[in-house]
Amino acid sequence: MELTKVKEWLSLMTLEEKASLCSGKDYWRTNALERLGIPSIVMMNGPHGLRKLDEFEVNFDVSDSAPATCFPSASALASSWDRELLTEIGVALGKECHAAGVDILLGPGVNLKRSPLNGRNFEYFSEDPYLSGEMAKAYINGVQSQNVGTSLKHYACNNKEERRMTTDAVVEERALRELYLNAFEIAVKGSQPWTIMSAYNRVNGAYCSEHPHLLNQILKQEWGFEGAVVSDWGAVNVLSEGIRTGLDLEMPSSEGYGPASIIKAVQSGALTEEALDHAVERVLQLALLSAKRSGQPIDCDYERHHNLARKAAAESMVLLKNEANLLPLSKTKRKIALIGAMVRSPKIQGGGSSHMKPTQVDDVAAAVTDKLGEGSELVYAQGYDLDNEAINKALEEEARAAAAEAEAVIVIVGLPERCESESYDRQHLRIPFNQAEIIRAIAQVQERVIVVLCNGSPVEMPWAKHAGGIVEAYLGGQGFGGALADILFGDANPCGKLAETFPVDLPSTPAYLGFPGEGDRCEYREGLFIGYRYYDSRNIEPLYPFGFGLSYTSFEYSDLYLDKKDFSDLETLTVRLWVRNTGVRTGKETIQLYVKDKVSRLVRPEKELKAFAKVELHAGEAKEIAFTLDKRAFAFYDPELKDWHAETGEFDILIGQSSRHILLEETVTLRSTTSIARQYDRQSSLSDLIADPRVEPIIRQFTQGLSDSQEKHSSEMMAVFIREMPLRSLVAFSKGAFTDEMLEGLLHLANTIGAQENS
Ligand code: BGC
Repeated sequence: MELTKVKEWLSLMTLEEKASLCSGKDYWRTNALERLGIPSIVMMNGPHGLRKLDEFEVNFDVSDSAPATCFPSASALASSWDRELLTEIGVALGKECHAAGVDILLGPGVNLKRSPLNGRNFEYFSEDPYLSGEMAKAYINGVQSQNVGTSLKHYACNNKEERRMTTDAVVEERALRELYLNAFEIAVKGSQPWTIMSAYNRVNGAYCSEHPHLLNQILKQEWGFEGAVVSDWGAVNVLSEGIRTGLDLEMPSSEGYGPASIIKAVQSGALTEEALDHAVERVLQLALLSAKRSGQPIDCDYERHHNLARKAAAESMVLLKNEANLLPLSKTKRKIALIGAMVRSPKIQGGGSSHMKPTQVDDVAAAVTDKLGEGSELVYAQGYDLDNEAINKALEEEARAAAAEAEAVIVIVGLPERCESESYDRQHLRIPFNQAEIIRAIAQVQERVIVVLCNGSPVEMPWAKHAGGIVEAYLGGQGFGGALADILFGDANPCGKLAETFPVDLPSTPAYLGFPGEGDRCEYREGLFIGYRYYDSRNIEPLYPFGFGLSYTSFEYSDLYLDKKDFSDLETLTVRLWVRNTGVRTGKETIQLYVKDKVSRLVRPEKELKAFAKVELHAGEAKEIAFTLDKRAFAFYDPELKDWHAETGEFDILIGQSSRHILLEETVTLRSTTSIARQYDRQSSLSDLIADPRVEPIIRQFTQGLSDSQEKHSSEMMAVFIREMPLRSLVAFSKGAFTDEMLEGLLHLANTIGAQENS
């Protein structure tokens, strides 16, 4: 922070002026303070493209916004698993904001995909916190390299749209720390977004805009967040209370009510001026950061950004099925049929506040035609109506006729806005009935059917058996058409991998029984087990696993090497392996590293993603990949310790192509250097004491008599009975072998050992 300037401004401001800086001037700007030369800060949506409105009032009509590049939405981009690509897109977005005079782009979103029903999943990256955090970090660093800010959102647990402004997400501490907050933590520590947006909902009872634990304690004190906390639009309950607990800026304007509450609270002593200053400083800092752009040349090439959008779409598409190498298609096929209303009206972005106006949109049919050689022909048929689910017999017949005479058929289907958008959740995981039916109808007359999906979140695929090829294109942005043609005809080799599990059906999803919850209460009963953490721990076969995606080439993994087999939690572990492209085309592979805790005091998922790398390899080429893991890769959040803890014990290092396809593995032993001072009392059991490595050696001297009596009744049942009995009962049951004095002596020693080690 340029503290001197900020402090100087602050010293010259009245209470009223300070209060006004903590609230919006209108829908998209902060209040300026002309007297001191403090400008307004302009914020606009995000995340996958700039929605720049000329006026600063509320306006839901996207046609009134200025054209900008529409990149693929977050669920697509995360499938690229490509940090460099995300940074490149961030840089392009930053340049477009600079050109448009926008100081802060509202995004990216790192809420996790607890359920595929969340209507806004398309705007979020993944079900996994590490992947989400890494993607967000790369994006933010790109945008902010242009001296344009970002707003990491929606902090926290905004995992559904239904009743999003009042719902209370009831989440146990470990799930909160290890999943939902972890994505934010990685992004905050790795990229320091200028702002973070507090969510509409409540978490464990308190509104996210007035949540001392989430804002002051965790975000600012523990993670060292240096930016400003801005409320989601209209998320503030009582502004003075927000400022007291860690919020810095209310958006949009609350017509003066918010600032008035601050003034009143300061005058009554309910809010200290120090807390207010703290918020104002963070808002002022935004003005200084934005000022760094003055004089920075505008260097914004929309044509280049369009090409980047096309490249990004191709890198994000996931090839889910490719029976008998149906893809890539030969460019010399006589006739290809392209079917679906989504050919002419492609679904390239989601609905709601992120919806923006593209500079141009690739024409899918033209892009496919461009690939075809002399003498090849493309036929188009609409196939289905987009605005309803009824089968249109005439359209179906036309599509069947086109399909019958072609050598291969490409059918584009997906989720129209009525099925998936900000503001409402999905009710099921199906694509519209008439779209599923057209796939079936075409398959009756054509063997080579390729289905292309345009959706923001997983769908069930009971129709998959009718398709030889399936491409998950997600919401691919304005370059979708060109990218699709590149993938279908092999000018780009598919390299996307799912950033979320595709379930077989809705009832098999982890939060099925707890989504959307009851009234305003949404209990996260599945705890730590969302996404692959659930499917893999329960051994439930999904439709397509997390991390899965096919390529037109193949890869071989070998020579796993770990620099240590035994190490302490203060050391790092280096993991190396070789990957070879064993096919005949250049391709990219994402190597995934998961860690499995073999035995743990607390319940843990079967495995968790802790590192990944994407690498490009020519045919026959091999490269060495290296990962470095530290304590956090092995740790869980210990609610008792209130800290991350990596327990002594064995861990498997698993290297794979998806969470379900592990190719190499090795076991390591970690030694914890944290000694936990547990306290024992008369209700503790022998097994509690035995499990504590500090206490275990002293037990025998007190329980010698007990083991003798145990030998007399040498059944396993008795042994367990004795071990798990509270110590107080042992006195009664042991007939003098373990006296009350011995019990007190044992407790005294066990508790003092812990205290000594921790002093
Ligand atoms: C959304 C935010 C968005 C804001 C401004 C809210 O309704 O939740 O993501 O940035 O509006 O449009």
